[in-house]
Formats: sequence, structure tokens, C-alpha cells
Amino acid sequence: MIEPYTDVIRPFLLQYEAERTHAWALGAASIAGSLRPARWLVDRVCGFEDSSLEVDLCGMSLPNPIGLAAGYDKSGTAIEGLSALGFGHLEIGSVSIDASEGNPAPRLFRLPEDRAVVVHYGLQNDGAAIVQERLAGRRTSAVVGTNIVKTNRGIDASPETADAIVDEYVRAVKVLAGVSDYLTLNLSCPNTEDGRDFFADPAHTRQLMEALKGEAIGCPVFLKVSPLGGDEAADGLLEAVNEASFVSGFIHNLSPGIEAKVSGDTRGMVGALAGRPVSGQMNECLRRLYVRMDRRRYSILSAGGVATAQDAYDRIRLGASSVQLLTALVYEGPCVVRRIKEGMCELLKRDGFSNVAEAVGVGEE
Ligand SMILES: Cc1cc2nc3c(=O)[nH]c(=O)nc-3n(C[C@H](O)[C@H](O)[C@H](O)COP(=O)(O)O)c2cc1C
Repeated sequence: MIEPYTDVIRPFLLQYEAERTHAWALGAASIAGSLRPARWLVDRVCGFEDSSLEVDLCGMSLPNPIGLAAGYDKSGTAIEGLSALGFGHLEIGSVSIDASEGNPAPRLFRLPEDRAVVVHYGLQNDGAAIVQERLAGRRTSAVVGTNIVKTNRGIDASPETADAIVDEYVRAVKVLAGVSDYLTLNLSCPNTEDGRDFFADPAHTRQLMEALKGEAIGCPVFLKVSPLGGDEAADGLLEAVNEASFVSGFIHNLSPGIEAKVSGDTRGMVGALAGRPVSGQMNECLRRLYVRMDRRRYSILSAGGVATAQDAYDRIRLGASSVQLLTALVYEGPCVVRRIKEGMCELLKRDGFSNVAEAVGVGEE
């Protein structure tokens, strides 16, 4: 039987440049979200809920543990349409206090044989004020988090002081906290000069935590951190945020460059590898952090290479409270969310769990 996305739509889209098809998909989601019949249709095709999938994430009630990772809807232009796909939460952004054009194109590349993409967008977004308006006007009850980052002003911009960088985060938090269900502070953009290494120094993380301590944020805060640095970095991170009681958990970001082994031809590609090849690295990061962290205080959202129910279930068993995906949408299409949810229900049942929470971290015991 013909599978509409993988047999028809995907081969069509693969003929065109990756950034262009990303824009088309986002445009389609935006239009679908604004039309009630289209939303109804998407819901009929993609909808699937089951009480065993419900998750309490730091006080937020999620219908399921499958989230959309940051970077798909960078400026919150398609929230309603994307929520109709059945995600348990959506993370929009990264959003910076000022709008940014990001890096020069080409800045998104596909490696279809590896089910991977190489991304070098460089934090293109419409800026905090515009995104705040969109979030305030959203018409969906879906849990929507906003991922916040420092503005990318390009490689020719003069270097900024630590105080100025920290101040940008604080200002963006002030603008976006009131309209977000949760915030993620992106401390590790692999694709900008100043985003890459600044927070590798735990002193800078501590400085940001200090600066935010006095803010009435009012929603859970996650930190999106570098996957590099091994045990030492994980220990340094936990120590740096120990006193910052507003921090609820962590997500691991991509590494800069194309470190993992891929079979596709990467000549001419710059940026960070996402998708299936990063899965092993993300499992390792998850395991390392889960065994170290205070599990009563922190939760982990795990992203990177999640494309099947088994992938998602494995992350939960390793200690993630929820997962996020992006690249799987490119290769498996919008119904991937429903398929993962259906498969997860079966896996939970098979192993005798009545809900997701019971399975969190059991693979580590
Ligand atoms: C096209 C694209 C754009 C992204 N943009 C962002 C971003 O702006 N901010 C961020 O924190 N992560 C960004 N990411 C990283 C994703 O949020 C996620 O961590 C990563 O892609 C791993 O998940 P995946 O393998 O399912 O794609 C981006 C990833 C991709 C592929």
C-alpha cells in the first residue's frame, strides 16, 4: 500500500532545497492551523491519545511525552497547526531579544541515507517582542515552551562582555516568561561564535543564574546545554545551578560540526548534525546526567535522533521525562507523532507499566 508521506510527499520535497521545504512545511502548518476544517482533518489523521501517555512535567500536564524540539517553528508562526499534529508540547524558538537574520544561506542540508540533517541556521528569528505578541494571541491549549538565546549579530559584530550577554537573556526572559508555559534557556548554540563556548565556563552559567534569581519567572525553566565535556561538564553544570531553585531540568543540544559517522557525502555542508546519527551520543548524555542529578528536583527532556516508539521508550527508560524530535518530521512526516504514541502505549503495556512515569529511569536501575 502506498504511504502518502514517504512514497509521494517526501520524494517530491527532497527535490528542493532544504530550507525552502522547511518554509513550505511551516507555511502549510500555519495555514492549516488557521482553518477549522483543516485542523479537524489533521486531528482526524494524526490524533491519538491514551491516558497511559499522560505526563506531569514539572507541574505541567502533558497529554503525551512527545514534544516538538526548538528550531522547527522559530518564531511561533504555526503553533496551532503544529499542535494539531498531537505533540505533548511544542518548543518554539530559539528567540532572542533582537530579531536576527541568522547565518548566510545555504544553512540547512539533508543526509537522507542517514536520516539526518546538518543545520547552520544561526538563530534566525523575529525577536522577542514579535514572538511575545504571537504567543499571547495563540488559540490552543497545547503546552508551549519558548527557547531563549542571545541575539546572533553575525561574525562581524564586535565581541560582547559577559555582562551584556547575561543581560540579553534576562531581558528576553522578562518579555517571554508571561506568555510561555515553560522557558528553555539555550546555553549552547553550536552554530554561533559566541553561543558555542560561552557557557562551557560554569562561572558564566552561575552568573546567569544569579542574574535571574530575583526575577519572578512563574513557569518551569529548562537549560539546553552542550553534550560535550563528559563527566566533568555534567558535574560543573549541576554545581552551577544548585542554588538556582527556578531551574527544573535540562535538554542536551547538538554538538558543533559533524562528529558522528555518516554514510552520506557531507562535502560543502557546515553546521551541526541532527537526526539518527546523534542518537548514541544523546543516550550517553542522558545516562550521565540522570545518574548524577537530584531526581526529585530535575527532569530531562531528551532530543536527538528520536524517530520511533522504541527510540522514545528507550529515552524514557534511561531517565527522560519526555522526548523531543525535529528531524523525524522531515523523513517520516507529520504522522510520526501518532505512530510513536501508538507504539509507546504497546511498549508500556508489554512491560507492565500503567503510565510513562513508572518507566522513567527503570533502565538505569
Ligand atoms: C533545522 C533545525 C533547527 C534548529 N534550531 C534550533 C534552535 O533554534 N534552538 C535550539 O535550541 N535547537 C535547535 N535545533 C536543535 C533541535 O532542537 C534538537 O535539539 C536537535 O535537532 C535534535 O533533535 P532531532 O535529532 O530530532 O532533530 C535545531 C535543529 C534543527 C534540525
